[in-house]
Amino acid sequence: MSEPLVLGIESSCDETGVALVRGRELLAHEVASSVEQHVRFGGVVPEVASRAHLQAMVPTLQRACASADVDLAQIDGVCVTAGPGLMGALVVGLSAAKAIAMALDKPLYGLNHLVGHVAVDLLDHGALPERFGALLVSGGHTSLLVVDDITSALTEVGATIDDAAGEAYDKVARLLGMGYPGGPVIDAAAAGGDPRAIAFPRGLTSARDLERHRFDFSFSGLKTAVSRWVETRRLEGGDVPVADVAASFQEAVADVLTAKAMDMCAHHGLDTLVLGGGVAANSRLRGLLAERADAAGVTVRRPRPGLCTDNGAMMAALGAEVIRRGHRPSSLEIGATPGLPV
Ligand code: KG4
Ligand code: ZN
Repeated sequence: MSEPLVLGIESSCDETGVALVRGRELLAHEVASSVEQHVRFGGVVPEVASRAHLQAMVPTLQRACASADVDLAQIDGVCVTAGPGLMGALVVGLSAAKAIAMALDKPLYGLNHLVGHVAVDLLDHGALPERFGALLVSGGHTSLLVVDDITSALTEVGATIDDAAGEAYDKVARLLGMGYPGGPVIDAAAAGGDPRAIAFPRGLTSARDLERHRFDFSFSGLKTAVSRWVETRRLEGGDVPVADVAASFQEAVADVLTAKAMDMCAHHGLDTLVLGGGVAANSRLRGLLAERADAAGVTVRRPRPGLCTDNGAMMAALGAEVIRRGHRPSSLEIGATPGLPV
């Protein structure tokens, strides 16, 4: 018998994602983004995002089915983000998923967005190992995880105590007047800069901080340091070397993320590290992590950049594993949980 055909739906923030997965094979992956509608506000406006999901959901579903040449009636299960995320945005995806599950009499699985960011890697690099570490870096979360079972046993060993890494990217891009979202624009600008030009701070890395916060992160001091540096330069009447600031900021983020991820692998005896979340698309983070992991004898798994930012494939990938391991479906009465932890 062939593996189940899983429909994945994601709508937690500003991306309407729909995907089809059979087993560990990605058959279709369509994303409609409302990012353009949020640019002038400098961040995601929840109401605008919800309306955009409502408009994009059916066309995105139709595109995914057409590209895989699949009739919706052929699916074996519907997997949807139940949290965390924006309440109104989550509700649109959940409602669509419930309607499909009910109309087709198929099981519904309400899943965790953060876990999906890690699970998506199995579509690119095959089955996940028995036990592994994960570095989850998105717009709202930054965590180090020890994963014993992607569907039921994830332990957060560290997390940011203030801003998420993606949030730091977005805030620094805003103060440099570079637009929204900040990650991709800083990544591009940094390519022409010197990462050693400015020594920005690495949060929670002093001997004293490591005692209490060995696997935790802090990015708000870094953001303030960048802001002060730029302000001082402007007060002195000098031009702001945007590429150098971007490269030096990016280096500080990548340095601390990779150092703590490697420390977790050593401390917890993990020989594989999976990278996930929107910031996992960052070129310097991917490069530095590969370098340091190689030196430490750790295998790094990095999903292709297009699967790092929010999409439906992550929910379908996680859902396929949930079904494979025989977990029970969710009730059709399941609600959205904006603050759902890992
Ligand atoms: O996972 P994601 O798509 O949404 C959340 O679940 O939050 O992550 C979005 C975040 C944004 O903060 C965005 O600036 C960041 O990921 N991001 C990047 C890159 N691409 C997206 N950060 C650094 N470098 C990138 N290339
Ligand atoms: Zn995300």
